[in-house]
Amino acid sequence: MNRRGFIRTTAIAAGALIFGRAQSAVAAAPKKIIKVSKFPVGASQQFVATNGAPAFLFRTKTGVFAYSAICTHQGCTVEYLKAGKKLVCPCHRASFDPFNGGKVISGEAKGPLAKINVSIKSGWVVQS
Ligand code: FES
Repeated sequence: MNRRGFIRTTAIAAGALIFGRAQSAVAAAPKKIIKVSKFPVGASQQFVATNGAPAFLFRTKTGVFAYSAICTHQGCTVEYLKAGKKLVCPCHRASFDPFNGGKVISGEAKGPLAKINVSIKSGWVVQS
């Protein structure tokens, strides 16, 4: 390979690398869940996580947090009971505390609900 060929090959490889990184950055963009202005402190909302599974989002004075709605017992979808401030599984009645790490309150669940990383960015609650 002569000098011109080397420079051309290097330029093409560098372009592909830069383009590939740009594509990765686009693919890794956080998923917008809801505008912060429409999700006041004390609110909760069900949403679909980036993996396609149902999830619950909460906002308190300290920020936002979310959990998978898939029960850790046998995989049913939990529901949020606002009056009791807990997530309850309709299949075998396991309950979870969303304000304490999604820990099991009662029932046969094997562990806490899976936490989902969410944050507030540019006026949106996003899954990162
Ligand atoms: S699947 Fe949720 S308690 Fe059994």
